[in-house]
Amino acid sequence: MKGIILAGGMGTRLFPLTKATNKHLLPVGLEPMIHHPIKQLVSAGIRDILVVTSTDHMGDVVRCLGSGAEFGCTLTYKVQESASGIADALALAEGFAGGSPICVLLGDNIFEYSIAPYALRFRKQTGGARVLLKEVGDPSRYGVAALDEKHVLEIEEKPAQPKSSFAVVGCYFYHCDVFDKIRTIAPSGRGEFEITTVNNLYIADGKLQFDICHGRWTDAGQFESLQEANSILFQNRNEILRWNPDDGTT
Ligand code: G1P
Repeated sequence: MKGIILAGGMGTRLFPLTKATNKHLLPVGLEPMIHHPIKQLVSAGIRDILVVTSTDHMGDVVRCLGSGAEFGCTLTYKVQESASGIADALALAEGFAGGSPICVLLGDNIFEYSIAPYALRFRKQTGGARVLLKEVGDPSRYGVAALDEKHVLEIEEKPAQPKSSFAVVGCYFYHCDVFDKIRTIAPSGRGEFEITTVNNLYIADGKLQFDICHGRWTDAGQFESLQEANSILFQNRNEILRWNPDDGTT
């Protein structure tokens, strides 16, 4: 499996912190934010990683991460010229993926525990996609999953009246048919090619599996959530905690 980190966007919700730099280079705990998704992928045994970022900050991102040797992985870089949504950024990764299954991480998502157990479950999946859900207090800020006991029935992007409190977090697993699906989608009301639209296509095919995210999680895209991200990573000196999915022990 290959890894893809999406680290573009304008970071406007963190202005003026992002006036001169990319959100993903801001400090979280003891390190730049973008170290976290790299370390997460490596913790899941994924060592071939593509980083997608904007033209403005590519130089700084490369200066920060280098070849990947420091993290035990190999890094490839790709420029996203316009901020047209997560699915648009992911489309740039088709050549890099080369038919392999992929794990996509949003560069501002911070997890207390390793994503390795979810990657392992996806590796056993013969096709389709896998998403991670987390119960949150403010679901309207996220993609929100309507669920029955075993299935995700529908995902709505930033709904005014959420059907549950389960946010779809920024860790997605796909087989290579994801790129065909992205080609069929249209931009949403806010003018973005949404990853939620792609995930709903997998639901329509009956091919979307899910896990509930263990431990603390946050995005770091706003001031309050950036503070939570700092708290999560600072408590463990930016180390990613391992855990046993059978009994939740570390
Ligand atoms: C994006 C996705 C959303 C997801 C969130 C997780 O939102 O569109 O579905 O729940 O990431 O961080 P954004 O951060 O672009 O508003």
